[in-house]
Amino acid sequence: MIGKDFLTIHDLEPGGVLSLVQKAYSMKKSSPPQVLANKTVALLFEKPSLRTRVSFEVGVKQMGGSCIFLSNAEVGLGVREPVADVARVLDRLVDCIIARVFSHNSLIELANNTDLPVINALSDKGHPCQAMGDCLTVYEHKGKLEGLKVAFIGDGNNIAGSLAIACSDAGMDFSISSPEQYQLPIEIWKSAQEISKIKGTNLMWTPDPEEAAKEADVIYTDVWVSMGDEEEKNERLETFAPYQVNESLVEYAKPDFLFMHDMPAHRGEEVSENMLDHKNSVVYQQAENRLHAQKTILSELVSG
Ligand code: NVA
Repeated sequence: MIGKDFLTIHDLEPGGVLSLVQKAYSMKKSSPPQVLANKTVALLFEKPSLRTRVSFEVGVKQMGGSCIFLSNAEVGLGVREPVADVARVLDRLVDCIIARVFSHNSLIELANNTDLPVINALSDKGHPCQAMGDCLTVYEHKGKLEGLKVAFIGDGNNIAGSLAIACSDAGMDFSISSPEQYQLPIEIWKSAQEISKIKGTNLMWTPDPEEAAKEADVIYTDVWVSMGDEEEKNERLETFAPYQVNESLVEYAKPDFLFMHDMPAHRGEEVSENMLDHKNSVVYQQAENRLHAQKTILSELVSG
């Protein structure tokens, strides 16, 4: 179902989002398969993490394996030694590499220099594990994915990119509202467009958040300043101010909409003070579902 690696949603076979979500749905209900017994997973993280690190470490443990956490201070990916050397050394010692990197190219270089599975735990280009946990959360609430509408309000960043591709693959409409200069990267937009054409779904960008939110089943947002964008903080906070997800914006969505956020959330910026505690918010369940989605991904990639 997945290729050697899971670097982007494209590593799933076409239409693979729904199948993986259905497997994750069963995974959540059953006792974890011990497919990682006697296996070791390296977690190579250049950036901070709460949900991703904990959910992977817990998941690996539940499946019988063990983790070694390597911070950037220890490894110095591409600085202390070339990325290819890191991959070649880990190749001989562990069974899987899970990496959170500044540049997506580092993931590609890791993957090209080892036969081990490499999993993207967030890069500047995407966060496919997050998108899978998100789709599982929607599936749990709505009993389906196809035909639903997801509205992403805010930065056309790594979270938005993986979500756009995953939603299109699963037959969902995807609308994104962001300021003109913070739209999704063109290559991601084009590939989402290609998939949505095949699936017959609606993919749209608008600078108007209300337009995007109209009749949505899911309202999703993420921080305005991603890790690595800190230098642009002031400018971003000013430009994104009209894009806050708050109680008046969600009025445009369907009454039973879900409010989602990958977290960490900045109350008073991309979300109003109380949105995370809104009756339609599923953000903490969304965080938990990272565990179930990632166990499914690991069992597809590492078992055997
Ligand atoms: N867009 C955010 C996601 C954090 C999980 C970032 O890259 O910092």
